[in-house]
Amino acid sequence: MAVASVVKERPGHRAAARMPATPALAPSILTADFGHLADEIAAAEAGGAKLFHLDVMDGHFVPNLTMGPLVVEAIDRLTDLPLDVHLMIEQPDRYVERFARAGADMISVHQETAPHLHRTVQLIRDCGAAPGVALNPATPIGVLDEILPDLDYVLLMSVNPGFGGQRFIPSVMTKVAALRRRLDESGAKTKIEVDGGVGPDNIVALRENGADILVAGSAVFDGRDPKGRARTLAALLERARRR
Ligand code: DX5
Ligand code: ZN
Repeated sequence: MAVASVVKERPGHRAAARMPATPALAPSILTADFGHLADEIAAAEAGGAKLFHLDVMDGHFVPNLTMGPLVVEAIDRLTDLPLDVHLMIEQPDRYVERFARAGADMISVHQETAPHLHRTVQLIRDCGAAPGVALNPATPIGVLDEILPDLDYVLLMSVNPGFGGQRFIPSVMTKVAALRRRLDESGAKTKIEVDGGVGPDNIVALRENGADILVAGSAVFDGRDPKGRARTLAALLERARRR
Protein backbone atom coordinates (compact mmCIF):
# COMPACT_ATOMS: atom_id res chain seq x y z
CA MET A 1 0.00 0.00 0.00
CA ALA A 2 1.25 3.51 -0.75
CA VAL A 3 2.90 5.13 2.22
CA ALA A 4 0.61 8.16 2.14
CA SER A 5 -2.39 5.93 2.77
CA VAL A 6 -0.92 4.35 5.87
CA VAL A 7 -2.92 5.70 8.75
CA LYS A 8 -4.31 3.87 11.69
CA GLU A 9 -7.50 2.24 10.62
CA ARG A 10 -7.96 -0.11 13.53
CA PRO A 11 -10.50 0.76 16.24
CA GLY A 12 -9.13 2.80 19.11
CA HIS A 13 -6.61 4.62 16.93
CA ARG A 14 -6.88 8.07 15.52
CA ALA A 15 -5.40 8.94 12.17
CA ALA A 16 -3.56 11.98 13.59
CA ALA A 17 -0.27 11.43 15.39
CA ARG A 18 -0.66 11.16 19.14
CA MET A 19 1.78 12.77 21.57
CA PRO A 20 1.19 12.63 25.34
CA ALA A 21 0.45 15.69 27.46
CA THR A 22 3.69 16.71 29.16
CA PRO A 23 5.49 16.25 31.43
CA ALA A 24 5.22 12.56 30.76
CA LEU A 25 6.80 9.44 32.17
CA ALA A 26 7.59 6.92 29.41
CA PRO A 27 8.52 3.53 30.82
CA SER A 28 10.83 1.58 28.52
CA ILE A 29 9.90 -2.08 28.57
CA LEU A 30 13.44 -3.21 27.72
CA THR A 31 14.06 -4.59 31.22
CA ALA A 32 10.46 -5.70 31.84
CA ASP A 33 9.55 -9.37 32.31
CA PHE A 34 8.54 -10.38 28.77
CA GLY A 35 6.86 -13.50 30.10
CA HIS A 36 4.38 -11.28 31.92
CA LEU A 37 4.33 -8.24 29.69
CA ALA A 38 0.60 -7.61 30.04
CA ASP A 39 0.94 -7.39 33.85
CA GLU A 40 4.06 -5.23 33.62
CA ILE A 41 2.35 -2.79 31.26
CA ALA A 42 -0.85 -2.64 33.32
CA ALA A 43 1.19 -1.96 36.47
CA ALA A 44 3.22 0.87 34.91
CA GLU A 45 0.03 2.36 33.50
CA ALA A 46 -1.65 2.23 36.91
CA GLY A 47 1.44 3.96 38.34
CA GLY A 48 1.11 6.96 36.04
CA ALA A 49 2.83 6.13 32.74
CA LYS A 50 1.60 8.42 29.96
CA LEU A 51 3.09 6.46 27.08
CA PHE A 52 5.35 3.45 26.50
CA HIS A 53 8.83 3.63 25.03
CA LEU A 54 9.75 0.68 22.80
CA ASP A 55 13.41 0.13 21.95
CA VAL A 56 14.06 -1.39 18.53
CA MET A 57 17.67 -2.56 18.06
CA ASP A 58 19.18 -4.20 14.98
CA GLY A 59 22.51 -5.64 16.09
CA HIS A 60 24.29 -3.27 13.66
CA PHE A 61 23.85 0.32 14.78
CA VAL A 62 23.84 -0.95 18.36
CA PRO A 63 25.28 -4.21 19.70
CA ASN A 64 21.96 -5.74 20.70
CA LEU A 65 18.82 -7.17 19.12
CA THR A 66 15.35 -6.57 20.49
CA MET A 67 11.92 -6.36 18.92
CA GLY A 68 10.28 -5.88 15.55
CA PRO A 69 6.82 -4.75 14.39
CA LEU A 70 5.17 -7.99 15.58
CA VAL A 71 6.01 -7.25 19.20
CA VAL A 72 4.97 -3.60 18.83
CA GLU A 73 1.63 -4.81 17.49
CA ALA A 74 1.19 -7.17 20.44
CA ILE A 75 1.94 -4.34 22.89
CA ASP A 76 -0.49 -2.09 21.05
CA ARG A 77 -3.22 -4.55 21.95
CA LEU A 78 -2.27 -4.33 25.64
CA THR A 79 -2.60 -0.58 26.13
CA ASP A 80 -4.42 2.49 24.84
CA LEU A 81 -1.49 4.76 25.73
CA PRO A 82 0.63 6.15 22.89
CA LEU A 83 3.53 3.97 21.74
CA ASP A 84 6.87 5.72 21.27
CA VAL A 85 9.09 3.61 19.02
CA HIS A 86 12.82 4.37 19.24
CA LEU A 87 14.53 2.97 16.15
CA MET A 88 18.17 2.18 16.88
CA ILE A 89 18.62 0.67 13.44
CA GLU A 90 20.52 1.34 10.24
CA GLN A 91 18.52 2.46 7.19
CA PRO A 92 15.45 3.25 9.28
CA ASP A 93 13.40 4.39 6.26
CA ARG A 94 12.99 0.75 5.28
CA TYR A 95 10.99 0.00 8.42
CA VAL A 96 9.09 3.18 9.29
CA GLU A 97 5.90 2.13 7.50
CA ARG A 98 5.84 -1.28 9.16
CA PHE A 99 6.21 0.15 12.65
CA ALA A 100 3.53 2.76 11.94
CA ARG A 101 1.17 0.00 10.84
CA ALA A 102 2.03 -1.97 13.96
CA GLY A 103 0.72 0.87 16.12
CA ALA A 104 3.59 3.33 16.65
CA ASP A 105 2.28 6.80 17.52
CA MET A 106 5.73 8.39 17.75
CA ILE A 107 8.76 7.20 15.79
CA SER A 108 12.31 8.42 16.32
CA VAL A 109 15.32 7.69 14.13
CA HIS A 110 18.94 8.39 14.99
CA GLN A 111 20.62 11.31 13.25
CA GLU A 112 23.69 9.09 13.12
CA THR A 113 21.89 6.60 10.85
CA ALA A 114 19.69 8.91 8.75
CA PRO A 115 21.58 11.13 6.26
CA HIS A 116 18.42 12.47 4.56
CA LEU A 117 16.55 13.65 7.61
CA HIS A 118 13.91 15.82 5.95
CA ARG A 119 12.88 12.86 3.81
CA THR A 120 12.77 10.48 6.76
CA VAL A 121 10.83 12.91 8.93
CA GLN A 122 8.28 13.46 6.16
CA LEU A 123 7.97 9.70 5.71
CA ILE A 124 7.16 9.28 9.41
CA ARG A 125 4.54 12.03 9.17
CA ASP A 126 3.02 10.56 6.02
CA CYS A 127 2.65 7.27 7.90
CA GLY A 128 0.56 9.03 10.56
CA ALA A 129 3.14 9.07 13.37
CA ALA A 130 4.85 11.94 15.19
CA PRO A 131 8.47 12.27 14.02
CA GLY A 132 11.43 12.57 16.36
CA VAL A 133 15.19 12.50 15.92
CA ALA A 134 17.49 10.89 18.48
CA LEU A 135 21.03 12.04 19.22
CA ASN A 136 23.75 9.98 20.85
CA PRO A 137 25.40 11.60 23.87
CA ALA A 138 28.44 12.69 21.82
CA THR A 139 26.43 14.16 18.92
CA PRO A 140 26.03 17.95 19.28
CA ILE A 141 22.55 19.49 19.10
CA GLY A 142 23.76 21.82 16.32
CA VAL A 143 23.31 19.00 13.77
CA LEU A 144 19.56 19.61 14.07
CA ASP A 145 19.65 23.39 13.49
CA GLU A 146 18.13 23.16 10.02
CA ILE A 147 15.37 20.74 10.92
CA LEU A 148 14.39 21.53 14.50
CA PRO A 149 11.00 23.18 13.75
CA ASP A 150 9.99 20.17 11.62
CA LEU A 151 10.35 17.75 14.52
CA ASP A 152 7.67 16.88 17.05
CA TYR A 153 10.41 15.84 19.47
CA VAL A 154 14.14 15.45 19.95
CA LEU A 155 15.30 12.40 21.86
CA LEU A 156 18.52 13.14 23.75
CA MET A 157 20.28 9.91 24.66
CA SER A 158 21.89 10.09 28.09
CA VAL A 159 23.65 6.73 27.68
CA ASN A 160 25.18 5.16 24.59
CA PRO A 161 22.27 3.22 23.14
CA GLY A 162 22.17 -0.56 23.22
CA PHE A 163 21.30 -1.66 26.72
CA GLY A 164 19.10 -0.82 29.67
CA GLY A 165 20.51 -0.22 33.12
CA GLN A 166 23.48 1.99 32.15
CA ARG A 167 24.62 5.04 34.10
CA PHE A 168 23.38 8.52 33.16
CA ILE A 169 26.10 10.61 31.44
CA PRO A 170 26.11 13.88 33.45
CA SER A 171 27.06 16.23 30.58
CA VAL A 172 23.68 15.53 28.98
CA MET A 173 22.06 17.72 31.65
CA THR A 174 23.62 20.86 30.12
CA LYS A 175 22.73 19.57 26.65
CA VAL A 176 19.07 19.44 27.71
CA ALA A 177 19.25 23.01 28.99
CA ALA A 178 20.97 24.20 25.80
CA LEU A 179 18.35 22.57 23.58
CA ARG A 180 15.58 24.06 25.75
CA ARG A 181 17.06 27.55 25.25
CA ARG A 182 17.33 27.02 21.50
CA LEU A 183 13.73 25.85 21.25
CA ASP A 184 12.39 28.65 23.43
CA GLU A 185 14.29 31.27 21.42
CA SER A 186 12.97 29.92 18.11
CA GLY A 187 9.42 29.46 19.39
CA ALA A 188 9.38 25.85 18.12
CA LYS A 189 6.92 23.56 19.88
CA THR A 190 9.30 20.58 19.62
CA LYS A 191 9.37 18.46 22.79
CA ILE A 192 12.51 17.18 24.49
CA GLU A 193 12.69 13.50 25.46
CA VAL A 194 15.57 12.14 27.56
CA ASP A 195 16.47 8.46 27.51
CA GLY A 196 19.00 6.45 29.50
CA GLY A 197 19.83 6.17 33.18
CA VAL A 198 16.84 8.29 34.21
CA GLY A 199 15.62 7.67 37.75
CA PRO A 200 14.62 9.29 41.04
CA ASP A 201 18.04 10.97 41.43
CA ASN A 202 17.93 13.00 38.23
CA ILE A 203 14.33 13.17 36.97
CA VAL A 204 13.54 16.44 38.77
CA ALA A 205 16.70 18.19 37.52
CA LEU A 206 16.02 16.97 33.99
CA ARG A 207 12.54 18.43 34.11
CA GLU A 208 13.82 21.69 35.58
CA ASN A 209 16.35 21.95 32.78
CA GLY A 210 13.66 21.57 30.16
CA ALA A 211 12.88 17.90 29.46
CA ASP A 212 9.25 17.06 28.59
CA ILE A 213 9.23 13.26 28.21
CA LEU A 214 11.35 11.14 30.54
CA VAL A 215 12.10 7.57 29.57
CA ALA A 216 12.77 5.20 32.46
CA GLY A 217 13.58 1.53 31.95
CA SER A 218 15.30 -0.14 34.87
CA ALA A 219 14.04 2.54 37.29
CA VAL A 220 10.51 1.18 36.64
CA PHE A 221 11.07 -2.45 35.66
CA ASP A 222 13.60 -3.96 38.04
CA GLY A 223 11.63 -7.07 38.93
CA ARG A 224 10.00 -5.61 42.01
CA ASP A 225 7.17 -3.07 42.07
CA PRO A 226 6.68 -1.41 38.66
CA LYS A 227 3.47 0.32 39.77
CA GLY A 228 5.12 1.83 42.86
CA ARG A 229 8.29 2.78 40.93
CA ALA A 230 6.28 4.45 38.19
CA ARG A 231 4.12 6.25 40.73
CA THR A 232 7.17 7.68 42.53
CA LEU A 233 8.75 8.90 39.30
CA ALA A 234 5.49 10.32 37.94
CA ALA A 235 4.91 12.21 41.20
CA LEU A 236 8.44 13.68 41.15
CA LEU A 237 7.89 14.74 37.56
CA GLU A 238 4.53 16.38 38.25
CA ARG A 239 5.96 18.40 41.13
CA ALA A 240 9.07 19.59 39.28
CA ARG A 241 8.90 22.96 37.57
CA ARG A 242 10.44 23.55 34.17
CA ARG A 243 12.63 26.67 34.25
C1 DX5 B 1 18.97 2.31 25.60
C2 DX5 B 1 17.49 2.49 25.36
C3 DX5 B 1 16.77 3.01 26.54
C4 DX5 B 1 16.82 2.10 27.72
C5 DX5 B 1 16.57 2.86 28.97
O1 DX5 B 1 19.59 1.98 24.41
O2 DX5 B 1 17.28 3.39 24.29
O3 DX5 B 1 15.42 3.34 26.21
O4 DX5 B 1 15.86 1.08 27.65
O5 DX5 B 1 16.81 2.01 30.05
P1 DX5 B 1 17.37 2.59 31.42
O6 DX5 B 1 16.35 3.55 31.92
O7 DX5 B 1 17.51 1.38 32.26
O8 DX5 B 1 18.68 3.28 31.11
ZN1 ZN C 1 15.18 4.17 24.02
